[in-house]
Amino acid sequence: MRTLVIIPTYNERDALPHAIRRTRAAVPAADVLVVDDASPDGTGDLADAAAATDPAVHVLHRTAKDGLGRAYVAGFGWALERDYELVVEMDADGSHRPEELPLLLERAALSDAPDLVLGSRWVPGGQVVNWPAHREVLSRGGNLWVRLALGVPVQDATGGFRVYRAATLRRLPLEEIESQGYCFQVDMTWRVHRDGGTIVEMPITFVERAEGQSKMSRAIVVEALWRTTAWGLAHRGRQLADLGRQLAARGRPRPRR
Ligand code: GDD
Ligand code: MN
Repeated sequence: MRTLVIIPTYNERDALPHAIRRTRAAVPAADVLVVDDASPDGTGDLADAAAATDPAVHVLHRTAKDGLGRAYVAGFGWALERDYELVVEMDADGSHRPEELPLLLERAALSDAPDLVLGSRWVPGGQVVNWPAHREVLSRGGNLWVRLALGVPVQDATGGFRVYRAATLRRLPLEEIESQGYCFQVDMTWRVHRDGGTIVEMPITFVERAEGQSKMSRAIVVEALWRTTAWGLAHRGRQLADLGRQLAARGRPRPRR
């Protein structure tokens, strides 16, 4: 199946060349799209250099740092205009191992393939390597809150190593997505689930980056917390209203025969 691996980048000059090389080696049939937000460190130029020597590598330049969510929405649009069938999300920093992609893609191409194959740190067999304790607590806590608030039946809704069917992305109102930071991952998981889509989690090993810096910030955490809570309140409110309607219908006298 025609596959595009989208790699969003902001200041990843030391990591990106490895990510591209490993991805091309692990899944030679797949194309790569780097979505760079005008990285001041010249990552965009490195991506252009890779694209100049390898026709399978493409670059989408954006004019300013505008968040992971918008970078991916732009990348999805690029993919859907070009008739790819599977669309992959992958971090540039080596945390997501391209060598695990064949397994994820194989699952996404089976005849009973789910709408979303989610690389998961928090299912049996999944793990994190070298992650500081506070990040693990944040991720596990965040995922617990996502399950409580939204009832999404997954263990790692915030993970960013995943495969979508293009047909599934086409069904979703991508232009409506407002999430800027990493809560984009929760947003997409929630949208696939609400749309009646199927999600399968497969264990991955997440390796903390060796080069560069995480772009995680307090603002990203705060956005994820308030959006998830707001979605949860709206969701639980709708459930209560449905329940109220059902009870009211039950209380109404039955029509006489
Ligand atoms: N284009 C663009 N624009 N790329 C960005 C932006 C942005 O504003 N912010 C981050 N990125 C890119 C980074 O360059 C990297 O390739 C990827 O997004 C992930 O960013 P990191 O900064 O390495 O994230 P992390 O390691 O702290 O976070 C991990 O955990 C999160 C929470 O579970 C990742 O796996 C995230 O995907 C995940 O949501
Ligand atoms: Mn990272």
